[in-house]
Amino acid sequence: MPRLALSDAPPELAEADLLVLPVAAGDGGPVAPPVTRAVLRRLGADLAGLAAGPARLRGVVDDAVLLPGYGGVAAAAVLLVGVGRDADRTPETLRRAAGVAVAQAGHATTMATALHQAGGGGTRALAAVAEGTALAAYRFQRHKSRPEPALAAATLLVDGAGSLADLEGALRRAEQAAAATVLVRDLVNEPASAMNPATLAAEAVRLARRAGLGHRLLQAPALRRGRFGAVLAVGGGSAVPPRVVELRYRPAGARGHVALVGKGVTFDTGGLDLKRGAGMDGMKDDMAGAATVLGVMTALAGLGVRTAVTGILPLVENMPGGSAMRPGDVLRARNGVTVEVTNTDAEGRLILADGLALAAEAGPDAILDLATLTGSAVVGLGPGCTAVLGNAQPLAESVLGAAAEAGETACRLPLIEDYRRFLDSEVADLVNSTDQPGDVIQAALFLREFVAGVPWVHLDIAGPATAKEARYYQPKGATGCMVRTLLGFLERFDPAGLKDRSA
Ligand code: BES
Ligand code: MN
Ligand code: ZN
Repeated sequence: MPRLALSDAPPELAEADLLVLPVAAGDGGPVAPPVTRAVLRRLGADLAGLAAGPARLRGVVDDAVLLPGYGGVAAAAVLLVGVGRDADRTPETLRRAAGVAVAQAGHATTMATALHQAGGGGTRALAAVAEGTALAAYRFQRHKSRPEPALAAATLLVDGAGSLADLEGALRRAEQAAAATVLVRDLVNEPASAMNPATLAAEAVRLARRAGLGHRLLQAPALRRGRFGAVLAVGGGSAVPPRVVELRYRPAGARGHVALVGKGVTFDTGGLDLKRGAGMDGMKDDMAGAATVLGVMTALAGLGVRTAVTGILPLVENMPGGSAMRPGDVLRARNGVTVEVTNTDAEGRLILADGLALAAEAGPDAILDLATLTGSAVVGLGPGCTAVLGNAQPLAESVLGAAAEAGETACRLPLIEDYRRFLDSEVADLVNSTDQPGDVIQAALFLREFVAGVPWVHLDIAGPATAKEARYYQPKGATGCMVRTLLGFLERFDPAGLKDRSA
């Protein structure tokens, strides 16, 4: 990640490969905010000319024009970036504009940016530009013999308005949220040969130690003693046995307790109900839920989160080995509920069953789970939207509010009670898979059987966990989606807010 710093140097004196300045959209064409106007004058550039010229600069998001500095400013070049109309501008506009700036920065390794000054600055605008810049600069190059040089440093220019301490605080918060997101991207992008239940568990323990989290690593004998029947069954087909990692963040005088559970299938072949070629593509990403929980846990102390958080990561590889679970097998989850395995490829809900039961035992005020759970969620909501389901209206609303704040797309789906009957089994308490449409809902109804009535929200991130194309501050590949949403949610969590309506 690039180093992020504040500077109160005037833009024309900022030392960097590239100086990034905002241009707003107005009724009669592009409009230069004061911070941009002074630099344009020095360069002898005028916006009307840029609007009429081949760049057709309008000041909308996606617009970018590169001007040589020619000695008129300290930076080698100036990049004008559209930030839209003043009335429409939100933090997400600025995150996206920052993403456009990084994409257009070419081989620049240092950048000075004033995009947040478009509408007078402020801590929210500054944080948005910092986040957008850091997230857009991400590259997964660990396995490249010759990694390309990336953006090394970004300086955010402040104009003396607002308290420097507040701005510095906002910058550090944005930096930590971005770092947690980038950590998740790295974990998810790593191929499954390197990221298996053993190595991911070891990474979780290493990160937990570094972040000062309490932790517990459960392996085969402890999993058997602990009656993790679902995790053991799903992990049975792999040469690398399953693990469960528990992480604990316990601030002094905690305001409530939230448990996070993340699906950690390090590779999903489908098991004996084997996926075919195209269906197996990208199934190294099937541990994105667990990676998200891990990324969030590592950031809590730095952000000063006041709520206690327990993270639970069931880690398995779903393989069709000689000791794999078979279609028709019956397993017993940790809470005693028995499940007939009607499809070995519906493995996520099985390992989450054990994980949710363990989470409920910790007595939290709320449980959130994250999982690349169903193709059905992608069919229903498309590639970029998290499906939100759960048993508690106020909790779901506060997660959706945090998502909106973070600029992450999420949409509530109903837990349709009538569909519960599809989960009835002739030989056990439940089946894990039905042949009915609407699997995103049935999977959530299945999970509900394991939360012991605790207020709970399920986030199906099968679509947004990865992206097929780069867009704004989101590179192609793993996104680290919902990290910033969860951090915002946990920063504001108040158990008193859960006790009104239920649904
Ligand atoms: N990991 C998949 C879900 C998935 C599919 C995530 C596509 C991302 C993209 C999950 O384990 C799975 O295989 N689900 C099956 C369930 C079915 C067998 C009931 C599915 O959605 O097809
Ligand atoms: Mn599967
Ligand atoms: Zn899966």
